[in-house]
Amino acid sequence: MEDFSGLLEAAAAARKNAYAPYSRFPVGAAVQTAGGRIFTGCNVENVSFGLTVCAERVAVFSAVAAGQKDLAVLALVADTPEPPMPCGACRQVLHEFNPAMWIVCADLNGKKRIFRLDELLPEAFSKF
Ligand code: THU
Repeated sequence: MEDFSGLLEAAAAARKNAYAPYSRFPVGAAVQTAGGRIFTGCNVENVSFGLTVCAERVAVFSAVAAGQKDLAVLALVADTPEPPMPCGACRQVLHEFNPAMWIVCADLNGKKRIFRLDELLPEAFSKF
């Protein structure tokens, strides 16, 4: 399997753009399409805390806004003692586009964990 280093670099770069004045916990994400295109995201917080959007969703919505829905891999980077895991809400949003998406989680020391989305969100909600 590839090492996803390019995608992780893109996620780490996006993390620098995080707007996280409340949590002071910047997160970066990057999705790669089946065709190899990369879209990035960072968390964007709001003074009305519940309006905050996670880095993963920003990356996914950026890809979709560019007409790219065939998402193959999502990378996630944060400064955590262990590789960060995507939150439950983001797992459901990712699942919409590819239940078998690869999820690559990395901390700033380069420690990585790789999952398939359907192992992180078994029995996902679906109407179909
Ligand atoms: N956050 C993400 O960006 N992704 C996640 O998967 C979990 C949490 C953000 C939301 C908030 O801005 C900050 O991390 C602290 O929870």
